[in-house]
Amino acid sequence: MITDIDLKKKWFDFFESHGFKKIEGYSIIPENDPTILFTTAGMHPLVPYLLGEKHPAGNKICDLQRCLRTNDIDSVGDESHLTSFEMLGNWFLGSCDKETMIKYSYEFLTSPKYLGIPKERLAVTVFAGDDTAPRDEIAYNTWKKCGIENVFYLNKEHNWWALGGGVGPCGPDTEMFFDTGKPKCSENCSPACDCGKYLEIWNDVFMQYKVEKEGEKAKLLERPNIDTGMGLERTVVVLNGLKSVYDAGIFKQVIDFIGTKAKVGYHESEQAKRSYRIITDHLRSSMFVLGDARGVLPSNVGQGYILRRFIRRAVNCARNIGLDTKYFADIIDIYVDKHGEDYRDIKANRQKIKEELLKEVEKFSKALEEGHKEFDKVINGIERHKEFAKKTGEVVPNVISGKACFRLYDTFGFPFELTRELARERGYDVDEEGYKKAFEEHQEKSRTASAGTFKGGLADNSYESAKLHTATHLLMAGLRKMFGPQTMQKGSNITPERLRLDFNVDHKLTPDEISSLEKFVNDAIEKAIPVTCQEMTVAQAKKSGAVGVFDSKYGEEVKVYSIGDVSKEICGGPHAKNTKDLHHLKIVKEESSSSGVRRIKAVLD
Ligand code: ALA
Repeated sequence: MITDIDLKKKWFDFFESHGFKKIEGYSIIPENDPTILFTTAGMHPLVPYLLGEKHPAGNKICDLQRCLRTNDIDSVGDESHLTSFEMLGNWFLGSCDKETMIKYSYEFLTSPKYLGIPKERLAVTVFAGDDTAPRDEIAYNTWKKCGIENVFYLNKEHNWWALGGGVGPCGPDTEMFFDTGKPKCSENCSPACDCGKYLEIWNDVFMQYKVEKEGEKAKLLERPNIDTGMGLERTVVVLNGLKSVYDAGIFKQVIDFIGTKAKVGYHESEQAKRSYRIITDHLRSSMFVLGDARGVLPSNVGQGYILRRFIRRAVNCARNIGLDTKYFADIIDIYVDKHGEDYRDIKANRQKIKEELLKEVEKFSKALEEGHKEFDKVINGIERHKEFAKKTGEVVPNVISGKACFRLYDTFGFPFELTRELARERGYDVDEEGYKKAFEEHQEKSRTASAGTFKGGLADNSYESAKLHTATHLLMAGLRKMFGPQTMQKGSNITPERLRLDFNVDHKLTPDEISSLEKFVNDAIEKAIPVTCQEMTVAQAKKSGAVGVFDSKYGEEVKVYSIGDVSKEICGGPHAKNTKDLHHLKIVKEESSSSGVRRIKAVLD
């Protein structure tokens, strides 16, 4: 049995022996990137470097990255879907030496010192070519030279990799599959079909292109890169021939623990099994989000809303299996013991994670029983209506109205998605449009609760965004001057049009404070101060008085951006060259972000 610990160790041993520098994984909450709520792949925090910024750790790096993807959240509970996972990654920055990377991949997969997979049990896919990019013959030939028989050319749908929104660095990839030995499902059986014969374990992406704006054609990158990613949990399952991700390692440990406390056993029913798994998955994801140095708390918007959904769904699942939610704290301990080893912020935030989680659990538990009663009433109402309609011939669909969904949300705290899930379990649908309308009508003031996608982001390395980034540093310097050095950035989100900055100040800024802050920034802009960058170790950076919010994401060497003696921050960049380029800053909004955290939006005009 190869464990996740073995796999991690082998990965770093291998890449370090080939001159790759190990860096610490980044935050699970993207910085300065409004395109996405969470880090969804190991390469995501590296986008600025993939677009040409210099990485302080050099051009060959490797890491372990905590990732979160919510697009499959409804499938969690089956054998394979997870919302959070860890990705082993390695990069060539500024080079696209496919032959070398494929040889590395081959060696890691087949060498007895590493994974020791017989080459006959491997299959790989490469890009077949289209009007964006040519057929990847280099990749094909290199695999063949290594002695891999099963090399398949596949189209863009299979062998092209880009970030979720489609904007940013992208390119053809070569994917590596473990052949389970099952018979072929048809003559054309290949890794493109999902018959289960071939299971993906690794992906080498050749980032030779970039897409600047949604819908635009890919352009060649001046400095191409290679980005590779191996899903840790998934690979452990595949290599051990397990049926489910929940049958191994930490997940198994948590499921076994729940089994000792719940009234209903794991194998008692399909619903019980699903509930065990959802608790197991969602509490780990909640732990990753709450424990992150950029800490997000449950709320009704953005990341906070996703976190709320995780926790509330877990509470509902605990109800299904008769598990007292006080045991959630023990489950968090199991996870922190495990992941605190790789992520320092998680270790440091153990108490906070438990406290905030239990606060949210308590908030929701109070309303849960009442909410279920209300839900039953709604269903009974529809059933009565149907009964009555039999006489009149009216057709009554099995649909819960938007208003009823909204009432469950507003009065009982049922996230819409939870109501939808409960409805589906009973064979009902929900009126989503009606829900949205009711939501907007009743909460015009509130921001939308959906986890929508936005434009722009880190992948947007325009000078407009760089200037706003510099403005963010000036604002933080001003805030620190006004409210003291404990004032820290709690979040930042930049589009080419505006900046959004969250920081810990315990009161609403007064109009006078807002004017002073603007004045502070505009004075610095007027002084036309050059923005300079130095590389140094974290220790030197700290000693030099640089401000660094997110300790755990930096490798040994970091970049420190200085704006004269106004601001000095550890930061990946990019920035404006001189403050005069910012022209003039205006704060357009000040509001609460979450408890103890204020948010401002500002534009350069
Ligand atoms: N970024 C690539 C992936 O996530 C490696 O598969």
